[in-house]
Amino acid sequence: MGKVTDAGFVKGFIRMADDGWNLGFHERNGGNLSYRIKEEEVEGIKECFAPAEWKEIGTEVPDLAGEYFLVTGSGKYFRNVSLDPEDTLAIIEVDDAGKMYRIVWGLKNGGRPTSELPTHLMNHEIKKRLTDGRHRVIYHAHPISIVALTFLLPLEDKVFTRELWTTMTECPIVFPAGVGVVPWMVPGGREIAIATSEKMKEYDLVIWAHHGMFASGADFDLTFGLMHTAEKSAEILVKVFSMTDKKRQVMSSADLRKLADEFGVVLPEKFLD
Ligand code: 13P
Ligand code: ZN
Repeated sequence: MGKVTDAGFVKGFIRMADDGWNLGFHERNGGNLSYRIKEEEVEGIKECFAPAEWKEIGTEVPDLAGEYFLVTGSGKYFRNVSLDPEDTLAIIEVDDAGKMYRIVWGLKNGGRPTSELPTHLMNHEIKKRLTDGRHRVIYHAHPISIVALTFLLPLEDKVFTRELWTTMTECPIVFPAGVGVVPWMVPGGREIAIATSEKMKEYDLVIWAHHGMFASGADFDLTFGLMHTAEKSAEILVKVFSMTDKKRQVMSSADLRKLADEFGVVLPEKFLD
């Protein structure tokens, strides 16, 4: 039985935190990350667990009963995760009713899981159900250009999806379902968790106006790649809008259809008129 920090999924989690910090997605304690741990991975480290007391999640996630998650701590800085994972991260267990959690490892100097735990867990619950358990990673970041666009574009799924898709050709292939947008709301609670998880029924990327973005994926590479790709497209878009409000040429709906055919992805009709 190895140390928790020797486990492959913990190493992958820490590498992703470093990558996000290096790309400027995480000022101060901005952003949070969670991973739904596989049963066999839990078995490999269970001996290291020291369960603390049960606490309210702040919402209900019955389909996650008995699951374990690796999560970032509230107020912890992404730039410190690789330096001291036992201080900045926690493994939590969800109770049989999906209403309470307890810390079983980490946060050695005290603290609690991310304040966005309700959103993380409600997103995990939706994605576990809708992807047959494939999705395991939920990632929240504060990427600059995505946030900048929420001051310029109408806060509509279709507008953001079309703008991001048509700015960088790989976007419709990387996120064929599109992007959801949640209007400005107070972060950290059940209300924004419900709004976000509703959008996660349809999309793997959900923007929080004037705040940041959530991404969901099967593993660390795919989830990080999703955030990175959408933010890169947004960065190009910000540069274009900085030069002009009139694009001389842009991909058409017919172009998007051709792309979808060639790459074997299905783009929702509602984004193609
Ligand atoms: P936490 O430090 O509680 O994770 O909060 C950071 C954040 O980005 C809130 O939306
Ligand atoms: Zn945030």
